[in-house]
Amino acid sequence: MSTKPTSASKTPPKMSGGLPLIGHMIAFGKNPFEYMMTLRNTLGEIGEFRMFHQQMVLLTGPEGNEAFFRAPDDQLDQNEAYKVMTPIFGKGVVFDAPPHIKDQQLKMLMPVLRDKPMRTYSQIIVQEVEEAIKDWGDTGEVDLLDFMKQLTIYTSSHCLLGDEFRYELNEEFSKLYHDLEKGMAPIAFIFPNFPIPVLRRRDKARVRLQELVTGIIEKRAQKTEKSDDAFQMLIDTRYEDGSPLTPNEITGMLIGTIFAGHHTTAGTATWIALELARNPEYYEKVLEELDALYGENGKVTFESLREIPVFERVIKEVLRLHPPLIFLIRKVAKDLPFKDYLIKAGKYVCVSPRVSHRIPEIFPNPEKFDPERFTETRQEDATPFSWIAFGGGRHKCSGNAFAMLQIKAIFSILLRRYKFELVDAPESYQDNYKEMVVQPNSPCRVRYSKRNIQKSTATQTTKTTAKESSSTNTFKITVDMDFCQGHANCMAEASEIFKVDDKGQLTVLQDTPGNTLLKKAQKAAKYCPTSAIKIKQS
Ligand code: F3S
Repeated sequence: MSTKPTSASKTPPKMSGGLPLIGHMIAFGKNPFEYMMTLRNTLGEIGEFRMFHQQMVLLTGPEGNEAFFRAPDDQLDQNEAYKVMTPIFGKGVVFDAPPHIKDQQLKMLMPVLRDKPMRTYSQIIVQEVEEAIKDWGDTGEVDLLDFMKQLTIYTSSHCLLGDEFRYELNEEFSKLYHDLEKGMAPIAFIFPNFPIPVLRRRDKARVRLQELVTGIIEKRAQKTEKSDDAFQMLIDTRYEDGSPLTPNEITGMLIGTIFAGHHTTAGTATWIALELARNPEYYEKVLEELDALYGENGKVTFESLREIPVFERVIKEVLRLHPPLIFLIRKVAKDLPFKDYLIKAGKYVCVSPRVSHRIPEIFPNPEKFDPERFTETRQEDATPFSWIAFGGGRHKCSGNAFAMLQIKAIFSILLRRYKFELVDAPESYQDNYKEMVVQPNSPCRVRYSKRNIQKSTATQTTKTTAKESSSTNTFKITVDMDFCQGHANCMAEASEIFKVDDKGQLTVLQDTPGNTLLKKAQKAAKYCPTSAIKIKQS
């Protein structure tokens, strides 16, 4: 799908029924997903509606998604569309920063999400899960969404912020974070500073958090021993001109890091347990896989979390059905052509993972929970930009590998210890569209009971390298540099092929390696969080 100048000139078709002044705000606000689904069913892959005075164009389906994700920043502007985040992240931080500053700030965060620190996070997450369930006893009932929210704020803050926030400021931080999160109310997308209590609490929380961050910076400056968390990294990092980040910027970027690692993960983790409880056949398959891998007391490690393909498919299917971000939005800064249509500058354009994930020509029987869609033989997501739960292209969520790691580690403990059952009728567990980040409705009650894990021999071993092919054939590697964010997982998997420098710049050392490196290259492609690597076998 090209976004180059074309003869495209048609105006996108419009939804009827908008009211004077507010447009389609009421119908959209009531249930954005249903509204966008109706729009697609009525108008097709492109259609326009109005929110107050703003004209919004919805693109759905792989081609529409690709046009959206491939457009350069000076054509589709993220910053303008995410003004809602400015009071939360702070003035001059990320979406509020000029492009060259924003790029530097995002790069400063990348080292935390790279392959190397990731390997240390699985142990921290396991420790937090053990702590969270230590008083559960043999049976009980729990509000799973509340539990996951609490657990993932601990795991994220422990992995990314360090000990002060996790142990000394634990309760206050949870409360402040909650107030910031509530500040992402739908109204704030249109009027970020509307004088209502929820937005006032958001502003107070932001001020207090910066006070706490400033206090920690001062305390850490007195210490001789340095921490090795994201917080310290932000204190030590410098802009290209050599200047350090201000406490306002550090606060904003820490909040941004936690937002990436927490608020979406809690909802997804909850849906995983709910869908497994609703689909006993897959629940059994996942348990079989985990029990076979870990036995009674197998250790959860970074490596073991890569050996659970059945559960990976379950996560992917849950994210297909319940993507936490149901729409993504940009402001059109330069006219955007799409097929015969021209989306004029000044309008907003959005895509919807949730709607695109329900296109029956791509995902047959789309409402059915069916993780087998993602097996090697079916690969229903093979069309690029068809599965977009983490976005796509240059702005694909850079925290996606961390989110997957967290979820896999959490369930590698929880599912082996306890069996989960729904307390209420299966169909009563539904998504809540009142929040911008969609999660299951509350209360979200489940019953748990201790499992007896069969004593079996775990298959978890240090895998011996499969006999490598001695063939002299080669294969071709291509990397879409537009998508590469410098995660460096490729280098960890295949250092003979990929080299990533300290600034996250990737060099492909050999683009037609011999087949002896094929397995390593395939792993590099599989674990690249932005799916930037493609392999073509001759
Ligand atoms: Fe880039 Fe993916 Fe490697 S983001 S550095 S190609 S792991």
